Amino acid sequence: MNEKLQKLKQEVLDNLAIIKDFYVLKDYEVRIMGRKGELAEILKDLPSLPEEEKKSVGKLANDIKVELTAKFEELKNALSKKKSEGFFDATLPGEKISRGHLHPITIIQNDLEDFFTSLGFMVLDGPELESDYFNFEALNIPKHHPARDMQDTFYIDMKNQAGEYDMVMRTHTSPVQVRAMQKYGAPLKSIMPGKCFRSEATDVRHEHTFYQLEGLMIGEDINLSNMTGILEATAKHLYGKETKVRLRPKFFPFVEPGVNGEVTCFICRGQGCKLCKNTGWLEIFGAGMTHPNVLRSGGIDPEKYQGFAFGFGLDRLVMIKYGIEDIRLFNSGDLRFLNQF
Ligand code: PHE
Repeated sequence: MNEKLQKLKQEVLDNLAIIKDFYVLKDYEVRIMGRKGELAEILKDLPSLPEEEKKSVGKLANDIKVELTAKFEELKNALSKKKSEGFFDATLPGEKISRGHLHPITIIQNDLEDFFTSLGFMVLDGPELESDYFNFEALNIPKHHPARDMQDTFYIDMKNQAGEYDMVMRTHTSPVQVRAMQKYGAPLKSIMPGKCFRSEATDVRHEHTFYQLEGLMIGEDINLSNMTGILEATAKHLYGKETKVRLRPKFFPFVEPGVNGEVTCFICRGQGCKLCKNTGWLEIFGAGMTHPNVLRSGGIDPEKYQGFAFGFGLDRLVMIKYGIEDIRLFNSGDLRFLNQF
């Protein structure tokens, strides 16, 4: 039996040296090593051998088995690499790649972009690193004016072309209003969504990085009713046909008059609930008629043209819509949160 085993081993090693095909190799492996293969065939009579011989033959058989198994494995690996280079089975089911999805803020932003473009608004972009001029001055917020206190600002340690420190991370999307006026003149209809930054002590309602969607419409004879109409249409689009809008006076330096916009709570329909803190109203935007100084900054004649502007906090819209209680979740990168959308 010893001899038979040695012979088989040699024969297999010789054959392995010449096999070049993966499938031939696999068949051959079964023929030799399989349950009914040649190795098993030789060892069939092992149990009937005398005790001493059984031990020594058994050990040899085992050594050979281990050695050959390793050789088969080695060659299979080498050939299967070649196989995958040369042959592609298009009928095998593919590996499933899990697809990502849009961030909830992007979903709302896309939705509002579609809505406003359907009303003839352009969608514009502006820089996130903004000059003090566009972020404040051009919007009728001069240096040292107390209105600057409304926005906690990241001032940037970097000089402009004139050698002055005047860069800020934009605190709102309103600077793009002036950029749009300078570039396109009047009449003008555009929205400007984007990221904004404030040096906030963060908590569930305040975040240092957040999103706004600014809107601007300028033309001859534009008035407060036009503004209310657009904002009512937007509110209905967001929260349903029944939604009502309430405007209450609020000071913003770049509009006159300025308002805070609220919509009837879409959960309790104005009855009062937890979401609206029992007021029946949800505050979702700031707006107003563009201040003549802002039109002038944009190179537009306030005697001839009027306009209105509005700004939505996108984070807030999403929080209200999905009942999210902590604004910090948006930038957390926490998949347990993000995967829900
Ligand atoms: N820029 C204002 C803010 O961030 C919002 C606003 C935009 C108000 C346009 C009026 C008009 O608070």
